[in-house]
Amino acid sequence: MIHEKDLVFTLHTTWTSYILRVNETNHLEHLYYGRRIRTTDHIEALFDKHTIPTGNAVAYDEEHPTLTLDNICLEYSGYGKGDHREPAILFSRAQGDRVADFLYKEHRIIKGKPRSFSGLPESYGDKTHCTTLIIVLIEKSGGLRLELTYTTFDGSDVIVRRSAITNDTGETVVLQRLASLQLDLPRSTYDLVTFDGAWARERYRSVFPLRPGVHVNDSKSGTSSSRHNPCVFLTARKTNENQGDCYGCNLVYSGDHAQFIEVSPYGKTRLLTGLNPATFSWQLHSGEKFHAPEAILTYSHEGLNGASRNFHRFINNHIIRGSWKYHQRPILVNNWEATYFNFSEHTLLTLAKSAADLGIELFVLDDGWFGSRDDDTTSLGDWTVNTKKLPDGLASLSKKIHGMGMLFGLWCEPEMVSRKSQLYRAHPDWMVSLPDRNPSPGRNQYLLDLTRKEVRDHLFESLSTVWRLAEVDYVKWDMNRTFSDMHGNAASYRQEEFLHRYMLGLYDLMQRFVDAFPHILFESCASGGNRFDLGMLCYMPQTWTSDNTDALSRMYIQEGTSCGYPLSAMGAHVSDSPNHQTLRQSNIESRFNVASFGVLGYEMDLSRLQGQEKESIRQQIAFYKLHRSLFQ
Ligand code: GLA
Repeated sequence: MIHEKDLVFTLHTTWTSYILRVNETNHLEHLYYGRRIRTTDHIEALFDKHTIPTGNAVAYDEEHPTLTLDNICLEYSGYGKGDHREPAILFSRAQGDRVADFLYKEHRIIKGKPRSFSGLPESYGDKTHCTTLIIVLIEKSGGLRLELTYTTFDGSDVIVRRSAITNDTGETVVLQRLASLQLDLPRSTYDLVTFDGAWARERYRSVFPLRPGVHVNDSKSGTSSSRHNPCVFLTARKTNENQGDCYGCNLVYSGDHAQFIEVSPYGKTRLLTGLNPATFSWQLHSGEKFHAPEAILTYSHEGLNGASRNFHRFINNHIIRGSWKYHQRPILVNNWEATYFNFSEHTLLTLAKSAADLGIELFVLDDGWFGSRDDDTTSLGDWTVNTKKLPDGLASLSKKIHGMGMLFGLWCEPEMVSRKSQLYRAHPDWMVSLPDRNPSPGRNQYLLDLTRKEVRDHLFESLSTVWRLAEVDYVKWDMNRTFSDMHGNAASYRQEEFLHRYMLGLYDLMQRFVDAFPHILFESCASGGNRFDLGMLCYMPQTWTSDNTDALSRMYIQEGTSCGYPLSAMGAHVSDSPNHQTLRQSNIESRFNVASFGVLGYEMDLSRLQGQEKESIRQQIAFYKLHRSLFQ
């Protein structure tokens, strides 16, 4: 529910309230975010008082000599008018001027949540769940129109924020930053909770007290990354898992991102989230509009657990979509750690038979089924069956798996090309590379230029053909390296825009696939959980959490991941002991006890199981099925 009185806007969800107003200089002032309040009578008690000018501060104008933008909680900060904190927006005009001062122009409140049609993934909700406030601000000199959108999601206590800018100045403006969300809080006695890591060590939770200055939680790797997940929390001191103030924020985006958390000289806190300004730049021609990705915000007085539950509810209801939403996910067996590249139809069928016998519901054929791929040096891009390993083809294998009563799933890595491939030989310029140097390899492979429509068309055609032929029920969409040598060889845009345009290309491609194959269960993956974010979850309802399947490591990885994401989004497998990544030994019960707190799978050679272990697994599967709806 949202209402407005005298240009004070009150946004209520079931348990929270968010209040802002248009102040005397026409800026948007943030007044309150927290536990739901019953009345907004005497709301002026929350207005910033600015009774005295402070030392060397810049006053906004001569009519308001005591008002400095540097010490007010604002909704969206410009640059060069006295607020010296991190700005939400930065751009330069043709002459290089960067001053940005956005003032209230108009607003409207509508039922539901309008779509942006920006090509970016977005959350969804209908009139029964959501109300939207759109505030339009105009840059003081005219011509630049900023739209800030706030959508309340009552049931999950989430507010979705969006920002978009339209250029009607008659000249081109270079956009360097357009934050998705700014949240200014009047205090700074918070701990910052972030989820940091690396390959095989994703999203370990770190907690540290805020200090004066700016902390940046970001990724410059081309993906949302495991270095620093875009999900962050601010918790008031003494907040624990179940009580205390907790603010949470996440971004619906899968590429470079940045969260700036700043404690100002006056002890206020600013949180900004959005595209990473370090790697972003966009030429906005006159007449054009640019949309920043959506950001989601929550508050709970029930500690980190309360905020996590809000996010889980929101993601399950308003991010995950398609036929697998709220649909129990099948228990799978994946052949990767059982066989790696070394398999034949016979070994796969032996594994599948043991899996079916134990009650497993989905057989996933991982890497190595295509081109002439016997190791990771070749064939990415050649999405036709490897007839040396599978002489009867995929359709025949799939039929046999279906015949055992299981679903059939297939691995792919659409965004990549190997130099040793037919695709590279036919289209060397489709590889992301600069004309004057050799591109840097990652796992012996290179990125395909998804900013190009012909590349996306080719991928759509070649993979659709395979999935149709093999009657695929599940797809694991992998992505096994970070970005380098960012450059489009046929680009009609400025090369600085490559990274964001790549993401728009990826989203376009995934949308085409999910539209064409609505029945397929997609699981995204990036060398494990190196692209675990809300952008991917808008297309693919689950993500492979980590290549590290060791039970002890997984406790940290899954616990961190669960702070921001529901268990139904987290792929978790029981694998061999000693574990292939850590070499640690753990018993079959411990491995299951951890993996069951996610979408369960097995990734080991089940055909070699003996007596007790086999019985344990059979019981685990029966137990998980019994309690699956609770676990997921
Ligand atoms: C990545 C994935 C693994 C597996 C391999 C196959 O590392 O995270 O699960 O699919 O690729 O090459």
